[in-house]
Order: sequence, then C-alpha cells, then structure tokens
Amino acid sequence: MNLPQSQPIRDFSDYRSDFPGLHQTVNGQPLVYLDSAASAQQPTPVIEAVARYQREDHANVHRGVHTLSHRATELYEGARDKLCEFINANSRAEIILTSGTTESINLVAQSYCRGMLKPGDQVLITSLEHHSNIVPWQLVCEQTGAELIVAPINDRGEVELDELYELMTGRVRLLGIGHVSNALGSINPLHDIIRRAKQAGITVLVDGAQGVPHMPVDVQALGCDFYAFSGHKMFGPTGTGVLWGRESVLESMPPYQGGGDMILEVSFDKTVFNDLPYKFEAGTPNISGVVGLGAAVDYLSAIGMEAISHHETSLHDYMVQQLSTIEGMRLVGTARQQASVQSFMLNEIHPHDLGTILDHQGIAIRTGHHCAMPVMQRLGLPGTARASLGLYNNHDDIDRLIAGLEKARQVFA
Ligand code: ALA
Repeated sequence: MNLPQSQPIRDFSDYRSDFPGLHQTVNGQPLVYLDSAASAQQPTPVIEAVARYQREDHANVHRGVHTLSHRATELYEGARDKLCEFINANSRAEIILTSGTTESINLVAQSYCRGMLKPGDQVLITSLEHHSNIVPWQLVCEQTGAELIVAPINDRGEVELDELYELMTGRVRLLGIGHVSNALGSINPLHDIIRRAKQAGITVLVDGAQGVPHMPVDVQALGCDFYAFSGHKMFGPTGTGVLWGRESVLESMPPYQGGGDMILEVSFDKTVFNDLPYKFEAGTPNISGVVGLGAAVDYLSAIGMEAISHHETSLHDYMVQQLSTIEGMRLVGTARQQASVQSFMLNEIHPHDLGTILDHQGIAIRTGHHCAMPVMQRLGLPGTARASLGLYNNHDDIDRLIAGLEKARQVFA
C-alpha cells in the first residue's frame, strides 16, 4: 500500500484541536463527546475540503466538458482512489460510493441476492448485528422464499463460533457479519470466520461501519466478498459511504438502481449499463460529501490506523477499569476482544435518565437499543447506556464521565 507516511509526531491530545465541534460548552460545561459510534465529529481539514469544493469547484461530475466539471470529477474520483488504497482494494472499480453502510448492504441484498436466492436457501447472520445488517436480509428472504438463520451470542457478547460454524451448511448462500458490534464493541475474529465460510462456499459481507474508523482494514487480507462502511463514522460527512466488492462478484451483479451515470447508452429498446464502479452509482452523487470523505481518509492515513487503534484500545481499557470502580455498575458486553465502545447499566437507573443527567453536565453518550434490538432481547435488557470513543478522546473525558455517573448514582440513591 502506498499510504501517506504514518507520522505519530503529535501526541493524541493534540488532535483535539483539529475538531472544532469539541470546543464548545453544552449546558454550561465543556463538551465531552462520547458518542462517536453514532456519528464522529469532523476535523477542520474535512470541513474545509467540503467548503472549498462548494465555494470554488462545484459542478456535476462525469458530465461536462467545462473546467469546473473536470475539477469536480477529479476531486470525486480522487476520493475513490484514496478509499481504494485505504482499505487495500484490488482496484478502484471495486469501490462503489453509496450513502452509507445501510445503502451498501441493501445494494447487495437486492442486486446480488434477490435474483440468486430461492426457496430452501439460507442467509446467515448473528444475534450481534445492527438492524442494517438484519432487515435488508429479512426483506430479500421474504421476496425470494429463502430463510434467515441466526447464530447466537454468549453472555459476554461474543458470537458462539462453534454454533456459527455448524450453521454453515451447503444451504447458506451468504453470511452477513459485523466487524465490530456497535452495541457492545465486540470484535469478531473475522479472519477465522471468513476462512470457514469460504471453505463452505459461502459469500461473505462484512458490516464494517464500526471497524474502519478504529483499526486498519485490508479487504484483500480479510478474504471477504463485500465490505460496507460509512463516511460519518470515520470523521467524514454524513450521507457518504462505500460498498467494496470483489470485482468478479460485482461484475456478475445487475444494477441496483436505474438513472443517470450508470448507463453507456439508452434507447427505448435497450439500455447498455456502464462499467464498474459506475454501474451501481445512479444519479448525481453526494459530490461534496465524497470530497470530504477523501479528506477524512487523508487525515486518518496521516495519523496511521495502527496508532489510532493503539490509542483507543488503551483508552477503552482505562474506561472499563474506571467504570468498574462505580458502585452498582454493570458492564454490558465484556468480549475478550473489544473496540471503542462500552455499554453499561447503573443500578436501576433507566439509561435515558442516565443520558439526560450526563447531558446536563455536558457529557454526550447514547442510550437505548442502539439499533440492535435483538442484542438487547438476548441480554434481557430494554437498552443500555453506551459510551463510545473516537481518536480525539482522552483520559480527562473518561474522568468526567465517571464523575458524571457518580453524580447520577447519588441523585438516584
Ligand atoms: N449505528 C449508529 C449507532 O450505533 C447510529 O449509534
């Protein structure tokens, strides 16, 4: 890979100054942002890249002979090249730009699976999945008569691998599995899981929404067929995302949506579809968002994903250690491999009350089912409080969280 040189010359605390959103008071207190799993704050280079594009370079892409259209196209396609290198895709044809993970997974369900699945076939997922990696498969199973089957998790929030492997029979046509659980932070051992699935002849889609922002991802080394992720969780703009697909698989798939840009020739008798990746990109795309996503890739690459992973792992360890000191604390999700997310319950306090009391102290966390209701059902909980980390968080943020939770405990005592 030819990524920009990783230069961890700055202390991680220095990166905070790159994120203007962090430097404000909320309810009279300096903001502590612990909700990056829902959406990450954006650094100045991303904000500036979008603003510069909108100020100076905006035109439609792939359509004009004029200078602005060329500039917009160069910036848009340049972002695709950056994303290609960032996840070590084989070629830029494999990078389909979408509105986010959800669209990426729906694209695979409808384009890859809808024409292929038949009654008797199965789609395999796990109980750990986000709704975006459940509902698209439910829909396509209903449309085709195929069956959705689910591998269980244990009390720690880890996929039961023996049971997952037992379910990988000749009937399973596709496995949809998350890289990192958004609700519990569990990291799935993807290399082993994908190897076993491929041995069984199963196509594998990875929901990487919570993987890409926190650790190096090499899709060729993983050996999956599809990897989906979102721009706004990796410090880029909302409404952007990627479906990476193996070129040979993408070639075999029909278009997902019809419209402009995805065609070579249209007549009322016949339409000839465009080549990859454009075959899957109908209509004017989110150009400014993708330009911002390219800037986010530059930003992350300059820091280095290894360094980010190391920083967040040690911060997560600290958060778990500190949360455990609070009387009445119950950590929810204690997988042996965890990234960036910690769910918890405090005594009998409803998570929404906890979130509100923390918000009054300027601390932002997410509460509820985290778009993963089956995880909550499995653990017998209505929801949890969840603190999630980004590269900009530090020990002070965790200390403020702990102090805020102590206060909540006293209020409800
Ligand atoms: N999937 C996002 C989350 O985990 C919204 O909060």
